[in-house]
Amino acid sequence: MQMKPLIAGNWKMNGLSGNLREVELIAAAAGSIPHADILICPPATLVARAAQVTGGRIAIGGQDCHPEAWGAFTGDISAEMLRDSGAQAVIVGHSERRQCHGETSELVARKAQAAWRAGLLAIICVGESESERSAGHHLNVCELQIAQSVPVGARAGTTAVAYEPVWAIGTGRTASRDDIAAMHVHIRKCLLNLSESTKAVRILYGGSVKPANAAEILRTDEVGGALVGGASLMADEFCRIAEAAFERP
Ligand code: PGA
Repeated sequence: MQMKPLIAGNWKMNGLSGNLREVELIAAAAGSIPHADILICPPATLVARAAQVTGGRIAIGGQDCHPEAWGAFTGDISAEMLRDSGAQAVIVGHSERRQCHGETSELVARKAQAAWRAGLLAIICVGESESERSAGHHLNVCELQIAQSVPVGARAGTTAVAYEPVWAIGTGRTASRDDIAAMHVHIRKCLLNLSESTKAVRILYGGSVKPANAAEILRTDEVGGALVGGASLMADEFCRIAEAAFERP
């Protein structure tokens, strides 16, 4: 059976206590959006309180985790700590972490395994830069990222992959429907090359998803949900995106 589309919000480094109100509003609306799985990933400082105020009506996740469970890693947070705070998922390998923190695909794979170890859904991000796309290398770039970032044993219950073209993140520019379809079909092929167990792994699209383009994107071949940045900060906008997810047969 196909899984529901996953509509995930990535708040990045945004959100203070007052913004918990938005999470509460999203949780209150979730009952009328039963055809989508809803997840909000606030900054780590809000994970525990977000989990508390939503009380399981939506899932709460982290935005990154360390590969180890504990130890002398000042400033880092482990997957176990996220789980202990009430998280059910964690984003790993977001392009902002790959770029600003020099994260390699090998490290991302270890973080995904840490997520599994702690019982979290790992949302593994891949995506090409603008220059890689202009040079026609986008399919190869994502293929290599998938091969190196997705650990052996990935399956739908433990893993989602997010395709986020770097040039579409926070820019208001979205990949065309044809480009999204071509890349998602390619990613599915790459996943299946790794293992049959990835057959039902959801492939999310991310990059300037908003209410106006969500329905079209979510109806695209092999798109199993969305990873939403800017438009996830306001409950109303985010819920309109989630409502655009359609019932799958
Ligand atoms: P955006 O961010 O929706 O603001 O483009 C998406 C993301 O980085 O996950």
